Parts: sequence; structure tokens; C-alpha cells
Amino acid sequence: MKIAIVGAAGRMGRKLCELAADASLDVVSRVDAVDGFDREWGGDVEGVVDFSWHEAVPGYVRKAAEQGIPYVIGTTALTAAEQAVVDEAAKAIPVVQSGNYSLGVNLLIELVRKAASVLGRGYDVEITEMHHRHKKDAPSGTALMLAKSAALGRGVDFDANAVYGRRGDTGERPADEIAIHALRGGSVVGDHVVMFAGELERVELVHRAQDRAAFAAGALQALKWAKGRPAGIYTMRDVLGFA
Ligand SMILES: NC(=O)c1ccc[n+]([C@@H]2O[C@H](COP(=O)([O-])OP(=O)(O)OC[C@H]3O[C@@H](n4cnc5c(N)ncnc54)[C@H](O)[C@@H]3O)[C@@H](O)[C@H]2O)c1
Repeated sequence: MKIAIVGAAGRMGRKLCELAADASLDVVSRVDAVDGFDREWGGDVEGVVDFSWHEAVPGYVRKAAEQGIPYVIGTTALTAAEQAVVDEAAKAIPVVQSGNYSLGVNLLIELVRKAASVLGRGYDVEITEMHHRHKKDAPSGTALMLAKSAALGRGVDFDANAVYGRRGDTGERPADEIAIHALRGGSVVGDHVVMFAGELERVELVHRAQDRAAFAAGALQALKWAKGRPAGIYTMRDVLGFA
């Protein structure tokens, strides 16, 4: 399968290019905004993996829709308007979109939902994420997925109960609050801790990514999985058979 990598010069893009051959995928176009890379892919491309910058996603996903080829989105922090373009494209092509393509995190999402449902309102949900100093958006897409999974398990509305960091006169913590805290520093690939803090005990579910290959391999697997599927938005849960 001939593929294009968008954001090919970046940390994830380089890892995707490195691992593609192992997945029997042929990278025929390396797309990036920096010198020495393609500005767009050609007509021979059969699928695209995008780990770039949220503002870049609408233009590229529209092009994939016009060409009728599957599109895998790893890029996070899309605005509502950018997401609407992705949703529109997904009426024409299979789009896989996930804030995290690792097997471990996708399993963690399942475990968090179960823990939130079993532990209930007596356990306060606090999520911390830590990433390298170069990460440009916060909180991580993974932290948001974990928080939404906790909300689902708890049976509460995520948007109404999400809190991003705390400062000043915050008042007492409401029971249904789901708080997310973003740490940045060094070269950390991606750490996530979901804490359920009760009166008598704390439960912590932890994931630490040790190499970007964990995400890259999953994204390449997702593209192969998407080939030939009906149009629609899919997640890594669909790819892994969890959905
Ligand atoms: N879903 C996941 O599993 C997962 C894992 C890691 C990172 N990410 C996300 O992937 C994205 C990239 O992360 P990274 O660490 O590789 O970042 P990075 O900054 O190292 O790389 C991003 C690349 O995109 C390029 N780019 C920017 N605008 C572009 C445009 N208009 N067209 C083409 N290329 C463009 C940049 O030049 C850069 O080379 C981020 O959104 C990050 O949050 C997702």
C-alpha cells in the first residue's frame, strides 16, 4: 500500500517513516511545511497518516476525501470548526481518529470506565499528564479521552464537570468534578495517571509510554485496517476490536 505521512519531519512523522516498511507500507510521499519535504502528495497515494498541526488537518483531509482514500488522524487539539471538516470528509472516506494509538492506552481507557463505574461518587477523579517540553497543546488528547471515559463510567456529563487545573479561591471540590492537570518538561514521551481518591483509599491507573513507536505502530495498523472500509469516523477501539 502506497502511503503519505503528513508532518513527516516531526517527532511522530519520523517514527512513522521509520516503521512503515515493517508494516509492509510504502511511504511514497513525506509531507511537511519545512524545506526538503513535499507540500502535498500525488495521485498514486492510497492512504494517509497525519501527525502534524491541527490547523493543517482540514485541507489535507478534504483532499483525501476528494481522492477517496482512507485518512488516519493522530493530530490532536482540533477546534470545533476543524473537527466539522473532518466529520464532513468522513461521509466520503474512512477516517480513523484517536488521541492515542497505543494498545496500552486504549486498554487503560476501558479500565478507567470500569473503575469509575464501580467506585462511584465517593472517589474523586483527578488526572495528571506529563509530556516533553516541546509539546504545543494542553491537555493531551489522551488525558481528554481518559477523562471522558471516567465521565462515561460515572454517568456524568463531561463538559459540565471538567476542570483544567486550579488556582485561587476554588471552593470545595464538587463530587462529580473531573480535573485534568498538564505537566511539561524534559523528554517525557507521555505519562498519564488517573486517580480515584476516596476517604479511605486511592486507586491509581497509570500508563507510561517509553517510545513513540507505540503510537506509530498503532497508527500504521489503523491505516491498513481502514483500507476498504465504508466511509465513517472510526477510533482505535474499532481497530482493536474493543468497540
Ligand atoms: N494520537 C497519538 O497517538 C499521538 C501521539 C503523539 C503525538 N500526537 C500528536 O501528533 C501531533 C504531532 O506531534 P509531534 O510530537 O510529532 O509534533 P512535532 O512538532 O514534532 O511535528 C509536527 C510536524 O508537523 C509539521 N507541520 C506543521 N504544519 C504543517 C502543515 N501545514 N503541513 C504539513 N506539516 C505541517 C511541522 O513542521 C512538524 O514537522 C500533535 O498534535 C501531537 O499532539 C498524537
